[in-house]
Amino acid sequence: MNFRELLHSGGQDLIYLFAVILFIFGIKNLSKPKTARRGNFLSALGMLLAVGVTLFDPHIESFQLIILGLWASALLGTFIARTVPMTAMPQMVALLNGFGGISSFLVAFREFQSNAIDILQKGFIDYLTLMLSTLVGMVTFSGSLVAALKLQEWLPGRPILFPMQKTLNAILGLLTLLLFVLTYQSLVDMNLDLLAKEMAYRYYYLIGIIAFILGITLVIPIGGADMPVVVSLLNSYSGIAVAMTGFVLHNNALIVVGSLVGASGIILTNIMCKAMNRSLLNVLFGGFGATTVIPTQQAKGSVKNISPEEAALILDAAENVIIIPGYGMAVSQAQHMVKKLTDYLLQKGKKVSFAVHPVAGRMPGHMNVLLAEAGVEYDLLHDLEINDQFPQTDVSVVIGANDVVNPAAKENPNSPIYGMPVFDVEKSRTVLVLKRSLNPGFAGIENELFYKENTLMVFGDAKKTLEGFLAALQELES
Ligand code: TAP
Repeated sequence: MNFRELLHSGGQDLIYLFAVILFIFGIKNLSKPKTARRGNFLSALGMLLAVGVTLFDPHIESFQLIILGLWASALLGTFIARTVPMTAMPQMVALLNGFGGISSFLVAFREFQSNAIDILQKGFIDYLTLMLSTLVGMVTFSGSLVAALKLQEWLPGRPILFPMQKTLNAILGLLTLLLFVLTYQSLVDMNLDLLAKEMAYRYYYLIGIIAFILGITLVIPIGGADMPVVVSLLNSYSGIAVAMTGFVLHNNALIVVGSLVGASGIILTNIMCKAMNRSLLNVLFGGFGATTVIPTQQAKGSVKNISPEEAALILDAAENVIIIPGYGMAVSQAQHMVKKLTDYLLQKGKKVSFAVHPVAGRMPGHMNVLLAEAGVEYDLLHDLEINDQFPQTDVSVVIGANDVVNPAAKENPNSPIYGMPVFDVEKSRTVLVLKRSLNPGFAGIENELFYKENTLMVFGDAKKTLEGFLAALQELES
């Protein structure tokens, strides 16, 4: 028995099983910044094994296209990973989800084209999974494209609404179901009637076209702060599409890996829904984001603007400090200065904690990644559970964060972010807000925090402002 035959007689599944174990350990390790690199490595190793063993499949007739595809994708992947800036990660993740979706669609499409005659003989499950692979794959593809274009701001980031949007989605959904039935019936009649075969193909192509439109109409009305939820949901869809493709190709690795991605995507969606006050059912059935953006009350009064030197005096006198990083910290790449300031304050005997919101920044874990890169101790990081500590805090330092500290989420029922849990920074004795202007954040709404009695604005690029803080603190010492 040669190596190929050995793999074919069960060895392949054994290696797939080993790859899947590596994926599971990979995901486990990815859940903590300290072990995330190892998690990435284990998952990549699992993928290498799975792809490697698949190349020994006896059904492969020619390697030319495969080698071309492997080279092209490896080059493209390396280029993207090296050049995409941290701030553009969400759109990259959205695109990668889309690639997963279109791959599943193409496999299903090819299977239908070449094996339409055999599909029903293989059983109803094979028919159903092929149809779902087509539908979910294409919805994921077009939906992810729209999400990526919105995040890149090549399409308006706000929700795009038009009349009867939900009705249109419902009609498209029902039409797809009808086409599933018609395709099935035509496949049944195919042996008797040549026209039925022709019709089966036509119905199938229509499913692909409707799925493409459905992906667009489902994602286009979502915008603003809901985008991360939709990207995470599309990630889960891409996993489901891959699992369906696994059934189509009778490939166990794809079934398990697709299910893992589908399940972890749903778990992440759920976590983000909670952080943004969206119910999962609401997300799943597309009713979300279709709310009209209502302008918040115009913030009134004037802001108090101080210099970094004055802010340093306040920090010098503080005993308890909570730092709240946001997207602006990523833009100004201030994480290393944040680490330096933290070390300085800790060394002066002050208590320093970090309040990291689950949706601060532009991607899940954005702040954690940057702070870990700068070497900030993971034990200092807290999420929303830190809220009860603000009343005992001397100074909250808001670094380039805006929406995640906006009290409108608690106080203004008309606000688009009303109900989203936010940090109660205004309850601390003094709030220092580091940003360049009074401009709004991602959700595009005013922030009344800036006008509160105990808030002091320190305008400027976050990194430069923090350099100013540290220089002034050291000056005070000498
Ligand atoms: P935002 O509300 O987006 O506010 C960021 C603030 O940073 C801006 O107001 C901006 O004000 C300031 N900024 C930009 N560049 C700066 C610089 N160089 N120095 C100092 N400040 C700078 O950020 P957030 O509080 O982190 O909230 C995140 C928002 O993004 C939420 O609405 C969330 O829903 C959404 N979102 C999150 C994700 C994920 S998964 N994390 C993905 C997509 C969207 P100036 O222009 O005045 O400086």
